[in-house]
Amino acid sequence: MKKIYYLILIILIGCVNNTNTKVELNSEDEPEISKEISIELSTSDNMLFDKKIIYVNSRQKITLTLNHIGEFDKKIMGHNFVLLKKEVDITDFAMRAMKARKNEYIPKGDDIIAYTKLIGGGESDTIIFDAPEKGSYTYICSFPGHYGIMRGILIVK
Ligand code: CU
Repeated sequence: MKKIYYLILIILIGCVNNTNTKVELNSEDEPEISKEISIELSTSDNMLFDKKIIYVNSRQKITLTLNHIGEFDKKIMGHNFVLLKKEVDITDFAMRAMKARKNEYIPKGDDIIAYTKLIGGGESDTIIFDAPEKGSYTYICSFPGHYGIMRGILIVK
């Protein structure tokens, strides 16, 4: 007889444990990640982006606005935002970009995930693109001589 009581007791404990587990799972639901994200990136005649790191989530649609709050014309102090694929050699890309003046310093090839147009003081440009897969991606300004300090990292979580 005692064995049966023990058996029932074990089953009851099992049921109670199951109930607890369910409650815990419900309370730890992940917060929903928004499907879209807006990013404002500013730069000036100082040749710097105001953000060195940008965080997004994979599967997010990114709306990025580049603002040039300086005064110089784009021929002298032009800026753009060029997001490069992971495997791209940045120095090599920048060298090729330098020669692509007629195409606003965007060289031909398959190196770029997204880019804005080249803008001067007082201008801005907005682009929309899908976040790439998880990882770290470098963005630069491809205007000659700028990529050395005008760069940052887009981290996709
Ligand atoms: Cu620049």
